[in-house]
Amino acid sequence: MRRAKITIIGAGNVGATCAHWAAAKELGDIVLLDIVEGMPQGKGLDLRQAGPVERFDSNIIGTNSYSDTKDSDIVIITSGIARKPGMSRDDLMSTNMKIVRSVSEEAARQSPNAVYIIVSNPLDAMVQTCWKATGLPTKQIVGQAGVLDTARYRAFLAMELGCSVEDIVAVLMGGHGDDMVPLPRYTSVAGIPVTELIPKDRLDAIVKRTRDGGAEIVGLLKTGSAYYAPAAATVQMAEAIIKDKKRILPCAAYCKSEYGVGGYFVGVPCVLGKDGVEKVIELKLDADERKLFDASVTHVKELVAWVEKNWA
Ligand code: LAC
Repeated sequence: MRRAKITIIGAGNVGATCAHWAAAKELGDIVLLDIVEGMPQGKGLDLRQAGPVERFDSNIIGTNSYSDTKDSDIVIITSGIARKPGMSRDDLMSTNMKIVRSVSEEAARQSPNAVYIIVSNPLDAMVQTCWKATGLPTKQIVGQAGVLDTARYRAFLAMELGCSVEDIVAVLMGGHGDDMVPLPRYTSVAGIPVTELIPKDRLDAIVKRTRDGGAEIVGLLKTGSAYYAPAAATVQMAEAIIKDKKRILPCAAYCKSEYGVGGYFVGVPCVLGKDGVEKVIELKLDADERKLFDASVTHVKELVAWVEKNWA
């Protein structure tokens, strides 16, 4: 059987850590691409040399050339600059739009059938940028945000309850910004609604910490943003696609009629399988949840308007 081919563009902390998790799970062969000469080659070779110890047989190469990415099944885009303390994800817009646009065009020439997972920030606008740059079918383009944001939410809930993270199932919607929408009503602990286990004021504090989860880490690191959890989340999505698992994960997916969004990529629960985003799942939102979701979508639309205005 042919192994999956996974290209990771951007060999910084997020990209290299994606390669690490993907190799450890033996998801396929990995091409790590960056514009810096020698760096992806060095990291790729180093990771390959971990194979005998960790017992994975993935072929891993580092490269500066898009021709090495030809016919990939998955392309993960992590390129761009990261936040520094005090910056919002939106502050990265003008630099990262140019980068994500050009890497998307280059990658799509080599791999028109791949599923593209975008990780660069500001996430929702960068997913739209990749779509606009490539013109690929929308199901082949998906943004990583919700898996990370729900992972943070689940970790905080497990810390609060002193229980296993494995028993916490959570849904989170909207953009990957300060107005993301965790949904306590759809969060359960081994089937028990979380609202029955944690008082409202504590739950509100956990929701707030989740929203600020990225900034909390930027504030601690001072020189960059999070990468272990973002990369783990990205690789979980890649695994769902490569293994055609039909997992239901919160991702930035294209919504036209769904949730009345009207043609934008926003965080919604969707089915991930071999074709990419195979279905968007529409949950019933109550009036308060709807209001929060609409506010988050409005913010995504503003970011996309900026992309449209500055495209030329
Ligand atoms: C974060 C960045 C990766 O949330 O957006 O940590």
